[in-house]
Amino acid sequence: MRTATPRRYLMCPPAHFRVAYSINPWMDPDKPVDPALALFQWEDLRDRYRSLGHTVEILDPVAGLPDMVFAANGATVVDGRVLGARFANPERADEAPAHLAWFRAHGYTDVREPEHVNEAEGDFAVTSSWLLAGQGFRSSPLAHDEAQEFFARPVISLELTDPRYYHLDTALAVLDDTADEIMYYPGAFSPGSRAVLARLFPGALLATAEDAAAFGLNAVSDGLNVVLPREATGLHEPLRERGYVPVGVDLAEFHKAGGSVKCCTMELRPAPAG
Ligand code: ARG
Repeated sequence: MRTATPRRYLMCPPAHFRVAYSINPWMDPDKPVDPALALFQWEDLRDRYRSLGHTVEILDPVAGLPDMVFAANGATVVDGRVLGARFANPERADEAPAHLAWFRAHGYTDVREPEHVNEAEGDFAVTSSWLLAGQGFRSSPLAHDEAQEFFARPVISLELTDPRYYHLDTALAVLDDTADEIMYYPGAFSPGSRAVLARLFPGALLATAEDAAAFGLNAVSDGLNVVLPREATGLHEPLRERGYVPVGVDLAEFHKAGGSVKCCTMELRPAPAG
């Protein structure tokens, strides 16, 4: 039997969200975002989490940082320890200090400003045994070592090869973080990384190219409910077969910037009890 555990998430309202530049293949500044619709979709996601019993903390948006709504890229929090981000692109650089300030103001004391480029949960995923870490487009492999040292968790480096899946969280999602259950799209990874994933996660749910392109892997699971973009319909049945409850949401405005459910959601993982 699957069980949901209550989570704490950090989200940043899309007050300044737009597609102002292009740093991934999904972004076309000539395809404008509807700000009212984006806000409606974002609020629906936030309310969905709250109705599932989760806590959502709010990070104040900053003018001039249109991608800040993708809160998952601003820091990685594991065991109550915070590893800040360092963005690959100058357009997003100023998001990192805004995140650090939030953590310092909210009682986090173990906060590290990183040495190497890492786009946080965009490229880091936490399973019970490992920290899975993406590289190839954004985060540096040096950041993988830095994360292993800081979190004292074994890091598995994975190489992304398809520019549409430039962050690990566009190609892989953790379904149960008390076990090692994930879903991923093999086509996003190098042959060696694909073999590593097959070896570590023989029972993983493998997504089709269609569900990956619908941002179906950019999902957030609480151990039971898997919140994912509503277009990724092919994942519903395999998720149900495994005992999960798929929860489809509409984040189409955010897909124009190359992000969906997970990108909008940073998880604040608490220090272990005791
Ligand atoms: N436009 C943003 C970028 O390219 C989207 C980030 C999406 N976030 C994510 N966790 N994949 O950086």
